[in-house]
Amino acid sequence: MSWLKKLRENWLEPFFFYGNNPLSLIGGSITTASAITWWTFWIMDLVSNALNNPYLGLIFFFLLPILFVGGLLMIAVGVFFRREKLHRGGQIPSTYPKLDLNNSVFRHGFLIVLVATAVNLVIVGTATYQGISYMDSAQFCGESCHVMHPQWVAYQHSPHAHVACVECHVGSGFHSYVDAKMQGTKQLFEVAFHDYPRPITVPLNALRPARATCEECHNPRRFTGDKLIVLNSFGNDEKNTEATTVLVLHLNLIHREHLSHFVYTATDDSDQKIIAVTAPNGKGGERQFVDTNWTGPVKGVTRVMDCMDCHNQATHIFRTPEKALDAAMAHGSPSPSLPYVHKEGMALIQAKYSSQEEAGKKITAALINYYKTNYPAVWVNQRALVEQAAKSLVGVYDQNVFPSMKVGWGTYPNNIGHMDYPGCFRCHDGNHTAKDGKTIPNDCTTCHNILAVQESNPKILQQLGITTDAVPSI
Ligand code: HEC
Ligand code: HEC
Ligand code: HEC
Ligand code: HEC
Ligand code: HEC
Repeated sequence: MSWLKKLRENWLEPFFFYGNNPLSLIGGSITTASAITWWTFWIMDLVSNALNNPYLGLIFFFLLPILFVGGLLMIAVGVFFRREKLHRGGQIPSTYPKLDLNNSVFRHGFLIVLVATAVNLVIVGTATYQGISYMDSAQFCGESCHVMHPQWVAYQHSPHAHVACVECHVGSGFHSYVDAKMQGTKQLFEVAFHDYPRPITVPLNALRPARATCEECHNPRRFTGDKLIVLNSFGNDEKNTEATTVLVLHLNLIHREHLSHFVYTATDDSDQKIIAVTAPNGKGGERQFVDTNWTGPVKGVTRVMDCMDCHNQATHIFRTPEKALDAAMAHGSPSPSLPYVHKEGMALIQAKYSSQEEAGKKITAALINYYKTNYPAVWVNQRALVEQAAKSLVGVYDQNVFPSMKVGWGTYPNNIGHMDYPGCFRCHDGNHTAKDGKTIPNDCTTCHNILAVQESNPKILQQLGITTDAVPSI
């Protein structure tokens, strides 16, 4: 039993002796109080899911564990200072007051400390684990920080709505985790001091390489064949005449061509102005295509092209007003049966509003007023359809425009395609040429066969048995 004796005489007795100081006692109380609050919270959450609120989550996973650990530190600091003080005054006792387990007061106190320590270990362990999983949840990233509101809203309506933010923004491995947390801490300070850019920007260079994120789920070697693209649009005439564009996109060729071996140079942070691309020449060497309009030196941000150079909006999809309204109408609301709803809708969603609240009120009032004034019969007989249309227009606006973060139509360019933003034509504009005279191809059949452009009820779709009737949204 000599180790027990040693433990008691060399550690416990001095600890209790030195621990008897105000700082350590306050620390002990803080730790105990936060532990009790934490357990109560936790039981409440088990019973009623009370923590399903990002701000409570912040208290629970950050504040309480910090208080808890802070209290423990205070105990230690208190012990240290009391020991130093007594040491300097030469008042250290040669023997510490006895810890006598036969003394029932001491025995009870000792048992309490022992049990509390065990419980505390469980708490710190669980809190760390839960804190980490909470910080990794989409809810934490998207909701606890209002700055991310536009990205959060777009994310919820995307094909990746069930993929956690960290899957793309952090990637796997301890190294990426630490990197991300350092970045996150910096951003927390920026938010606290209102020192963040509006609209918020992330150069692609700051993101993890696609190999560590996208390619964990999507295997680029599995892309085969072509893809049929059917795009519906509506006219500004009274009948909102529908037109359809049909393309066959050479998906396999597009994917096979660019991955992992093209290096480009851009002159801006969002990679919209690409002045040069270096690509293998098929003979073991390389070829550099340079923008013939660029006269300066080839200098700027360089990057190895990967998924995100085209799919920069894989998840944060911000549409153009035309595409957003066309998609909503193709899903049935605003109903194409309402006269001039496309024309009116476009004007209303593109007008300037100071906030989403103001937009909601003004768009609704203006659309209702339009039908009341110009088509009273429609307003009387199809009131529900008009109200539904107003609601859908507000929805289209709220998913794409965020005045509080200075995010408007077109703030975030989409790099797929070339009609709305430079996209593929950042390089395939027919102006990026190599010294040997080869130009990055710009021919309209390089990437797709165009089967129909803005046709009403295209023959090719009839032949394929594809209908473009409005599908109600889910
Ligand atoms: C499928 C992958 C993926 C997921 C999941 C994802 N993001 Fe992103 N995120 C991206 C990419 C790619 C960009 C770069 C976009 C660009 O450069 O235009 C980005 C950019 C951003 C930006 C910078 C603003 C911008 O659009 O450039 C913010 C903020 C952001 N994401 C927040 C989030 C939050 C919050 C979540 C979870 C709710 C999330 N992201 C989930 C891929 C993802
Ligand atoms: C955790 C897994 C996961 C990660 C990581 C991931 N994706 Fe996806 N992605 C999916 C799933 C699942 C779907 C299918 C969703 C559906 O069909 O509704 C999908 C769908 C897509 C689509 C098709 C969208 C459409 O409109 O049909 C694209 C494009 C895409 N992902 C690109 C990316 C890119 C680029 C990245 C990296 C920035 C990425 N994904 C990261 C799981 C993932
Ligand atoms: C050169 C540009 C480019 C690059 C690089 C690229 N893609 Fe694509 N990808 C496209 C285009 C264009 C489409 C078709 C867009 C559409 O469906 O509207 C597409 C479609 C997809 C789809 C949907 C396929 C389907 O059948 O609907 C997935 C998933 C996808 N890409 C994943 C990836 C991943 C993962 C990477 C990186 C390994 C990648 N892409 C790299 C241009 C690119
Ligand atoms: C960073 C520059 C860059 C961007 C952006 C880019 N490409 Fe390319 N693309 C190239 C280069 C370089 C080549 C190879 C040219 C060569 O060596 O012949 C190429 C080749 C191709 C080819 C093969 C052409 C052929 O005849 O073999 C297709 C198809 C293609 N790109 C489609 C796309 C699409 C679709 C997009 C947009 C979603 C896109 N590219 C965006 C640089 C780019
Ligand atoms: C480098 C590849 C590439 C080249 C070259 C190219 N396109 Fe495209 N085009 C695309 C991609 C990618 C899309 C987007 C498909 C989608 O919506 O997913 C697209 C979309 C379109 C659309 C439908 C767009 C919409 O939003 O309504 C039309 C029309 C079109 N292209 C016409 C042309 C014409 C005309 C040319 C020749 C001047 C051309 N394209 C050259 C890649 C290319």
